[in-house]
Amino acid sequence: MEIIILKSVITPLLLLSGFCFGFCTPIDTITSTQFIKCPETLVSNGSAFKLGFFTPADSTNRYVGIWYSTPSLSTVIWVANRDKPLTDFSGIVTISEDGNLLVMNGQKVIVWSSNLSNAAPNSSAQLLDSGNLVLRDNSGRITWESIQHPSHSFLPKMKISTNTHTGEKVVLTSWKSPSDPSIGSFSAGINPLNIPQVFVWNGSHPYWRSGPWNGQIFIGVPEMNSVFLNGFQVVDDKEGTVYETFTLANSSIFLYYVLTPEGTVVKTYREFGKEKWQVAWKSNKSECDVYGTCGASGICSSGNSPICNCLKGYKPKYMEEWSRGNWTRGCVRKTPLQCERTNSSGQQGKIDGFFRLTSVKVPDFADWSLALEDECRKQCFKNCSCVAYSYYSSIGCMSWSGNMIDSQKFTQGGADLYIRLAYSELGKNVLVFFTSCFSGCILLQNGVFEHPSLLNTFWQLVSNPA
Ligand SMILES: *[C@@H]1O[C@H](CO)[C@@H](O)[C@H](O)[C@H]1NC(C)=O
Ligand SMILES: *[C@@H]1O[C@H](CO)[C@@H](O)[C@H](O)[C@H]1NC(C)=O
Ligand SMILES: *[C@@H]1O[C@H](CO)[C@@H](O)[C@H](O)[C@H]1NC(C)=O
Ligand SMILES: *[C@@H]1O[C@H](CO)[C@@H](O)[C@H](O)[C@H]1NC(C)=O
Ligand SMILES: *[C@@H]1O[C@H](CO)[C@@H](O)[C@H](O)[C@H]1NC(C)=O
Repeated sequence: MEIIILKSVITPLLLLSGFCFGFCTPIDTITSTQFIKCPETLVSNGSAFKLGFFTPADSTNRYVGIWYSTPSLSTVIWVANRDKPLTDFSGIVTISEDGNLLVMNGQKVIVWSSNLSNAAPNSSAQLLDSGNLVLRDNSGRITWESIQHPSHSFLPKMKISTNTHTGEKVVLTSWKSPSDPSIGSFSAGINPLNIPQVFVWNGSHPYWRSGPWNGQIFIGVPEMNSVFLNGFQVVDDKEGTVYETFTLANSSIFLYYVLTPEGTVVKTYREFGKEKWQVAWKSNKSECDVYGTCGASGICSSGNSPICNCLKGYKPKYMEEWSRGNWTRGCVRKTPLQCERTNSSGQQGKIDGFFRLTSVKVPDFADWSLALEDECRKQCFKNCSCVAYSYYSSIGCMSWSGNMIDSQKFTQGGADLYIRLAYSELGKNVLVFFTSCFSGCILLQNGVFEHPSLLNTFWQLVSNPA
């Protein structure tokens, strides 16, 4: 038996390969009579992908998977029997009598199945040149496909989705380790609530967040630009499912995303005719990319030391814990807002304002409305439970009413975040607030003046004499 050792940037593998089926014509289809057994492979028409048996490095287990078939480098993108490895060199991939796709071990025990209750007899499975393995009934209708059942890799045209009615999700799931493809603790999927965001979860806890989708990019990923994009799309199918997908803008490269056992999303690509896979981007470059590192109302800047600060106008909730570098319990407001004081004691005083932070990954849990910028600011100002807002032209009005979680300061990209602060906390030169009101002003709640003719000049960027 010929055993080829292949190395990969993502997952070092030992592949069992080099076998020709029949007259050395590669086949791409399995039927109930034409099955493959270890170490045979299917080769997609066009040769981009293979399906067969592989052994991860530092493992003796064998799995059935799909990988990019490059001459000397290989990367598994999908695994069938993740949790039930084959333990010897026997095993077959075949179609059962009822039409399901099966992986069986040498003792004919099923270790993986496409699991369709209504599979059609005489189905066949074909490995396509997109890396998709499709099961079809004998009329050609697709009854099952591997891209609807992702492993840890996200390829062009795949969909990760959430059904907003049922909560059902299609997610990527990490391997336990590079030598163990069984389901690890990380998953990656889309959260469509309010404004769609991509999340990596560690179990049920968020571990990484893309920031809001603006129709073209996720604004919490500053490296994203139209070149980076390669045709990302977030689609609401109007039947309750929101999904994310991408198409390759540049047809002279292979490109895909992989969720590593450590929970990092890695964008990997290879140019046609070249053998080397290269890393183009990673979700987790610093501790700041870990969800909520700086706690409530904290903000993370990877260039700073320490990386966490409280947002302007906030102080550590537990100073001693915070200065030890344990930021999880976050920050609290230093000075009560005027709107809060008015509510509680009837005291007036100088009105609250907004402090502008530029190039920010905006916090999680944004409320969303269609309001334009001026209206967005006013809506926030009029509601004392609104602690911040952000207006982003292709998204609209975002506002926050609870703790501000998972903010990050970027050197470029991101959005402007306007934090509501008591007047005395605003500082100099960098605030936006109501400066003057001439005759005819209308007194609204919370001491806000509004003049019908001043609607658009109501707020100004000014120097604060305080
Ligand atoms: C097949 O279905 C059974 C029962 O619904 C489930 O326990 C099993 O995990 C499924 N297998 C796969 C490969 O989805
Ligand atoms: C399946 O294929 C066999 C052999 O070609 C044929 O005899 C049988 O009728 C087919 N069954 C169905 C349900 O189409
Ligand atoms: C496509 O990728 C190749 C290789 O990286 C690059 O040379 C070429 O400029 C790209 N084409 C476009 C249209 O981006
Ligand atoms: C940080 O503080 C929290 C809350 O007090 C505590 O539960 C946690 O163990 C601390 N973490 C470390 C690393 O000390
Ligand atoms: C103020 O904002 C909170 C939180 O978004 C919301 O529940 C409440 O209805 C708002 N109040 C008014 C008067 O709009």
